[in-house]
Amino acid sequence: MMSFRRAIIFAAFFLTAFFLLRHSQTSNDPEPFSKPPAKSDNSDNDSGRLQDEPMTNSEAGSSDQSTQRAHKVPAQRAIQDMSKMSLYDKLAYQYPYDVETKFPAYIWQTWKYTPANGEFTFRDQEASWTELHPGFVHEVITDQVAVHLMKLLYAAVPEVLEAYNALPQPVLKADFFRYLILLARGGIYSDIDTYAIRSALDWIPDSVPRNSIGLVIGIEADPDRPDWKDWYSRRIQFCQWTIQAKPGHPVLRDIVTRITEETLRRKKEGVFITKEKSVMEFTGPAVWTDTIFDYFNDPRYFNMDQSNSNITYLNFTGIEAPKKVGDVVVLPITSFSPGVQQMGAKDYDDPMAFVKHDFEESERHIGETG
Ligand SMILES: *[C@@H]1O[C@H](CO)[C@@H](O)[C@H](O)[C@H]1NC(C)=O
Ligand SMILES: *[C@@H]1O[C@H](CO)[C@@H](O)[C@H](O)[C@H]1NC(C)=O
Ligand SMILES: *[C@@H]1O[C@H](CO)[C@@H](O)[C@H](O)[C@H]1NC(C)=O
Repeated sequence: MMSFRRAIIFAAFFLTAFFLLRHSQTSNDPEPFSKPPAKSDNSDNDSGRLQDEPMTNSEAGSSDQSTQRAHKVPAQRAIQDMSKMSLYDKLAYQYPYDVETKFPAYIWQTWKYTPANGEFTFRDQEASWTELHPGFVHEVITDQVAVHLMKLLYAAVPEVLEAYNALPQPVLKADFFRYLILLARGGIYSDIDTYAIRSALDWIPDSVPRNSIGLVIGIEADPDRPDWKDWYSRRIQFCQWTIQAKPGHPVLRDIVTRITEETLRRKKEGVFITKEKSVMEFTGPAVWTDTIFDYFNDPRYFNMDQSNSNITYLNFTGIEAPKKVGDVVVLPITSFSPGVQQMGAKDYDDPMAFVKHDFEESERHIGETG
């Protein structure tokens, strides 16, 4: 039988161990990414594995209640009747946003084939992401697997699934997929024809605390010319071939809501794409850009009292360094569009050049459906 003294010593030991472990879990890890479990060996078999991937939220969020409240949706995890909620609220309930979690260490890509398939032609591009991001889970999701993955992630929001399944072209599904996967899981989405030039760990200056941002975007076009309307749909266009986000970010929630509602409207009409109803405006960079600007000017998330002007393209035109607005970091045009030799973009060897996008995917998608 254990003596009273020994019992006290055991108790003290367990309590100390408990607090030490707990402390090490909640302390601020200098690394801005949390690591999900290592990739299983048969990495080409992604159909079974995705289902039990745990969320990679750190526990840091619960410790500091005082800051960033404005960005949080109340964490109502009690069972609620979702049938009366708006789509936007359902998505917020399903995938709540917490700015203080870490950026999940996922890289999501989508293509017709997995890298294991002989017809996969983006091996160099795909490998560049793996090489620069050791410890990340890197998935190339095929169209067939994407259907199942979406079914899993959005089972509770059937209108999203209905919209996803109704989209008639691969380019539309691929556009929608990036917003859906980032809303549900977070991490990095990048088009398959895009090279990583620098690790995502280096995208944001060290001076920006990672628990103050939840979305990192780049500029696709900043056409400073009087006839810009002949060439671009927006005076500043944010790109959507590479995006980094924390799960549940309100911009993603909003764009998924918009695309879902617009898809169901077009489905009813029986007409998806026309000259007036372009891919650009429906799922592409135009709606992405509008959604981001609407977020910047949304009084639910930003205190508008002190500002007497809206956030517009003027706040981002010509920027040469990352600019933080609220919990969003906008990278200069050089970061995601280097080497385009216009609009102030610098070359691939510039220290601010982070990815190289080849513009093959969009052409290919058009060829595929045309
Ligand atoms: C993938 O996993 C499923 C279910 O775990 C299994 O039935 C199938 O044989 C696997 N395929 C490959 C290529 O390993
Ligand atoms: C900001 O934008 C809103 C909506 O577009 C508009 O109603 C408002 O007048 C604008 N405010 C300023 C100061 O420009
Ligand atoms: C945006 O630009 C306007 C002037 O165009 C300025 O008054 C405002 O402070 C800027 N806001 C931010 C967040 O940079």
